Amino acid sequence: MAVEDLHRQILVCRKCPLHQTRTLAVPGEGDPQAKVVFIGEGPGHWEDVQGRPFVGRAGKLLDLMLGEIGLKREQVFITNIVKCRPPENRRPTPEETVACAPYLQQQLEAINPKVLVPLGNTAGEWVFQKYGLKWPKITQANARVFKVSTLFGTLNVVPAFHPAAILRNPPQMGELRAAFKKISDLI
Ligand code: URA
Ligand code: SF4
Repeated sequence: MAVEDLHRQILVCRKCPLHQTRTLAVPGEGDPQAKVVFIGEGPGHWEDVQGRPFVGRAGKLLDLMLGEIGLKREQVFITNIVKCRPPENRRPTPEETVACAPYLQQQLEAINPKVLVPLGNTAGEWVFQKYGLKWPKITQANARVFKVSTLFGTLNVVPAFHPAAILRNPPQMGELRAAFKKISDLI
């Protein structure tokens, strides 16, 4: 299914309890033919209010990192594991993740990126499970390239620290930069 059709479905979805507390669902945005897809955990406060992914402080850092490798957010695709904000920004439950995952699966099938970037442990765990890999924790996986063969060719999975984690621990900025350098080398 085309990305825009999926997004219309997500905006009115009620498949899990998160629909009860959301303001707006956040399907994701960017180039439907992007070479790189970024996956966060779930919308936060500003994302829920605006219906757009990564528009708060973590989003500003993501934009900065993209700019450093010569990319604008319109040239990539940015989305999340769950499309509605978990209350108090808690991690999504396994039930919510299972309910929402078909949307992300279909987004990935439609876009078919060359590089997939899970941001942080929640997205990392989901992506690694999907491709039958053992998740080694973000501290071990950050900036490494994991090659996965799919029906459509080779996919490069490059986990990166979640920008919100870097905001809490600025000395790790260099490690986030290293991940973006890897992404840049692959495209
Ligand atoms: N954090 C996330 O994981 N996703 C967003 O969209 C914003 C902040
Ligand atoms: Fe539907 Fe996903 Fe929102 Fe749950 S989080 S209501 S599954 S779009």
